[in-house]
Amino acid sequence: MSERMQLPKAGQDWPALREEMQARASNDVQWRDGKASVYVFHSGDDVMQVAHDAYGMFIAENGLGPAAFPSLKRMEQEVVDIALSLQQAPDNASGSMTAGGTESIMLAIKSCRDYNLSHKPVAGVPEIVAPFSVHPAFDKGAHLMGLKVVRVACAENLQADVEAMRAAITPNTIMLVGSAPCFPYGLIDPIEELAELALEYDLWLHVDACVGGYINPFIDAVSEDKLEAYNFSIDGVSSMSLDLHKYGYAAKGASTVLYRDKALRDAQVFHFTDWPCGHMYTPTFAGTRPGGAIAAAWAVLHYLGEEGYQQRARCILEARQMLTKGCEGLGLKVFGQPKVSIVAFGWENDDILAVGEGLYADGWFSSRLQNPAGIQLMISPEHSKTMPNYLKVLEKNVEDVKEGRRKRKTKGISYS
Ligand SMILES: Cc1ncc(COP(=O)(O)O)c(C=O)c1O
Repeated sequence: MSERMQLPKAGQDWPALREEMQARASNDVQWRDGKASVYVFHSGDDVMQVAHDAYGMFIAENGLGPAAFPSLKRMEQEVVDIALSLQQAPDNASGSMTAGGTESIMLAIKSCRDYNLSHKPVAGVPEIVAPFSVHPAFDKGAHLMGLKVVRVACAENLQADVEAMRAAITPNTIMLVGSAPCFPYGLIDPIEELAELALEYDLWLHVDACVGGYINPFIDAVSEDKLEAYNFSIDGVSSMSLDLHKYGYAAKGASTVLYRDKALRDAQVFHFTDWPCGHMYTPTFAGTRPGGAIAAAWAVLHYLGEEGYQQRARCILEARQMLTKGCEGLGLKVFGQPKVSIVAFGWENDDILAVGEGLYADGWFSSRLQNPAGIQLMISPEHSKTMPNYLKVLEKNVEDVKEGRRKRKTKGISYS
């Protein structure tokens, strides 16, 4: 008899099922205690409750049917409008809500590819020139849509090397990419320079602000260390991706993709008529789209408002300062000068990845990096309370490696 799980014959009581699920979750990373610096963005129980309730209110509704659910259509439009305003988009700009950063990026690639096909087709396989630090969603999108990504080594400061990217442009290049900030190091690429390059070669520039979209404006407002320009305020930025389910603090399954001009977004939309039900129009990759994710994002944006986001940005700055100071005190080297919410650090004298294994063994989830080897944290507002605990565990593991009590067991690193 196979050990594969079978559907139970009779239904079970919800309280018992809930208890079992709670028991299972007890082995997960304890993110409520600040032990996850990836996957979860904790900005307080009140925010979580708003997202939870709003999601529940629209759990059955479907974003596929705007005529049936004008409420969702209106909420989505308002979320997109807020995103466009935050990113200083021109009047004719447009966008969509999507299921996440990967979908937003893949849609921008599709729009760029299809817009190019009708305006400026290339002879060979279309190419995307991007810094080595961009998210693999670009490669996934290129793989699925028949494009090629040319990853270019970053400059010594770990930001995009604009001149090296210029050298990588060929007659088949259709898109340039910069991140604001990138996931591995948390650094904002020189978007103004990339935009100049894009205008010079008449290329589409996508800014991946999946991490930064809903935090950069607020960090900029509360920090003395102002951010460099990165959004539609720069001519030459064609599209942007911004995740609501990261620093928008919305429920999972929510992101936004934005375009400088409606004509660019038109290339995103899929129309089909040759089947029994006639014209079907889907703006994103999905058919059915969860009403809950749209509703939760709308509710959290309005619950927090500018002041709520700024207050959380202050917590992140506080936690970031604690972390960078703590790293310096332990002889660890912070990569570049992170100005947003991600900090990555390495260790010139010893094996930082052994420290990463130690943190993991102690129940603390930080991402690990190769090229250069390092540890990376995406800081949540709630980390301002738990950062001292993290630093204690970090110190213990640094000492363990220094004293030879801990040696690295694994060779490679993996993100998921
Ligand atoms: C910079 C950046 N872009 C894109 C993504 C992909 O987002 P998602 O995991 O929501 O698909 C991430 C995820 O961490 C990211 O950090």
